[in-house]
Amino acid sequence: MKTRNLLMITDLGGDLTKVLADAATLKQDRLQRHDALAGHSVGIFFEHPSMRTRISSEVAIAELGAHPVTLRGEEVGISSREAPEDVARVLSRYVSLVAMRVRSHVTLEAVAAHATVPVVNLLSDRSHPCQALADLQTIAEHRTLAGTRLAYVGDGNNVAHSLLLGGAMSGMDVTIASPKGFEPAGDIVAEATRLAAEHGALIAVTDDPRAAVDGADVVYTDVWTSMGKEEEKRRRLEAFSGYEVTEEMFSLAKSDAVFLHCLPAHRGEEVSAAMIEHPRSFVFDQAENRLHAFKALMLALLEGQ
Ligand code: CP
Ligand code: NVA
Repeated sequence: MKTRNLLMITDLGGDLTKVLADAATLKQDRLQRHDALAGHSVGIFFEHPSMRTRISSEVAIAELGAHPVTLRGEEVGISSREAPEDVARVLSRYVSLVAMRVRSHVTLEAVAAHATVPVVNLLSDRSHPCQALADLQTIAEHRTLAGTRLAYVGDGNNVAHSLLLGGAMSGMDVTIASPKGFEPAGDIVAEATRLAAEHGALIAVTDDPRAAVDGADVVYTDVWTSMGKEEEKRRRLEAFSGYEVTEEMFSLAKSDAVFLHCLPAHRGEEVSAAMIEHPRSFVFDQAENRLHAFKALMLALLEGQ
């Protein structure tokens, strides 16, 4: 495996397909590789709250025979108590891999530049690549990725960025529907467009959610107010009016379409309560797949070192 860090899903390059295939295999028997990382310790670090990411990564580490060490942001004080480059070099002396949820992607880049062990992004303001791995694994349980049409309805945020890039790398047509002012970053859209062209797929950005969902294979949404943006909540509630994914909006997609949400969900904002419970909603498979995908990723980064 050529990959050393996973800051953006594009860091996996051609290894993405193998990681997704390994995640599917690991799902078949959770304990099949129970001693694969025996003797390793893995550091996981959180500057924001987490439920799925923290639990799935701790359980994944333990089920591969390694030891998880969880640190909260306020304990470390990265950039306040201690410079990221020093945190990186110190952690590298203790653990085999550092996985971090950070407020700013710049922090992660500083850590990665100075760490001597692999660094994994567990969510930053720019991307959420481990989520995209689980998302692609979940979609692959229902569709061949290449040629699948995904409509993402909502904020052009970290999750949208990783879906754009991971979808493009997998040959998926990805349309993002966001209100004006909340579109995905231009450089991410440009990179996704280039990757999509390489893989025979198309990327589009629109402010018409219903047009995006029309005929889609996968409909995806995420919160309108991401962690760190709480002071914008009122403005966002107004801007995203008409973007709630309801059963009525979902009915515009293919009859066997798949609904996904990375969770946590805010019922009555970006998604209706009925949509979460819809027979074509696979949000809890998606949450489960965080575990298998993270195992496959750690094995890819650590095995053979
Ligand atoms: N989807 C996700 O990353 O969930 P948590 O914020 O609970 O980790
Ligand atoms: N976009 C959301 C994802 C949470 C898993 C956030 O950053 O808060």
